[in-house]
Amino acid sequence: MIEARNITRFFSVVNDDRTADGVTAVLSVSLGIPDGKFVSLVGPTGCGKSTFLEILAGLQAPTEGDVWIDGRRVLEPLPASRKEMDAYRRKYRFLSPIANSLFRDSPKHDIAMIFQDYAVFPWMTALQNVAFTLKLRGVPRRQREDLARRYLARVGLAGSETKYPAQLSGGMRQRLAIARALSVEPKIILMDEPFAAVDAQTREKLQEELMDLWGGTGRTVVLVTHDIDEAVYLSDEIVVFSPQPGTIRNRIPVDVPRPRRRDDPELSALRERILAIYRQDAEHLADWSI
Ligand SMILES: Nc1ncnc2c1ncn2[C@@H]1O[C@H](COP(=O)(O)OP(=O)(O)O)[C@@H](O)[C@H]1O
Ligand SMILES: [Mg+2]
Repeated sequence: MIEARNITRFFSVVNDDRTADGVTAVLSVSLGIPDGKFVSLVGPTGCGKSTFLEILAGLQAPTEGDVWIDGRRVLEPLPASRKEMDAYRRKYRFLSPIANSLFRDSPKHDIAMIFQDYAVFPWMTALQNVAFTLKLRGVPRRQREDLARRYLARVGLAGSETKYPAQLSGGMRQRLAIARALSVEPKIILMDEPFAAVDAQTREKLQEELMDLWGGTGRTVVLVTHDIDEAVYLSDEIVVFSPQPGTIRNRIPVDVPRPRRRDDPELSALRERILAIYRQDAEHLADWSI
């Protein structure tokens, strides 16, 4: 269970004329995401989706509020390697016994994040990319290669193991990033516009693959997207953010059984509903600026 409680994120900024200014990217967002759910966050550009997702991952700290995952507070970037884990433990060893007991076996390596710009190492082959991630997570050497090959095959990259990212197409690179994230078998997968940079046809294929990989694993997925069709097709629930400052505008359950059809009229109706919310917000903003 992911629980975000009253998350606010404020940025201090300096204007070009050197006057101080501020942006409230996310305002008082509370959201609970039960295990195994596929939840999408949608909303206009700049409404704080990425900021909120990074706060969930512990990649940035909220100005106010806190995030809890399975009853444990997310304090900062979760350690990704044994070395980082040791440093983390050392850092918190002077806390009270109670606080220590909260950290003792935590945090587990159970979050993986997938970004839009396929974060893969260009100097490593596909196989090395996945195996290296497994190494960072402490998987013994003997198992790494097998596991890496298995996950590459699952995302349709069997036969491309020895290729470098530059030799792969955009869609294949994103598959590699997905294989890398999934290979560590995280309980929670956070994705920030993962398919935004690939062409429409590849995007649909990757969406199908994601559904196949996710189905029945009990993993939680939080997907940030500005593609409403994608959100409607994939999710159990859609959280609609309002324009700046980002607040939760609406939560829309998608109770359509899987496998779904893209042209399902129920899905189109939901899409229209979300678009209507966007339009309403845009008009509201226009009224304000008069
Ligand atoms: N590091 C930062 N410094 C200042 N402003 C930021 C920073 N990160 C994000 N913002 C601002 O916060 C708002 C939300 O950004 P973001 O979370 O990237 O939105 P989204 O992902 O929904 O497009 C934007 O107005 C953006 O300019
Ligand atoms: Mg973003």
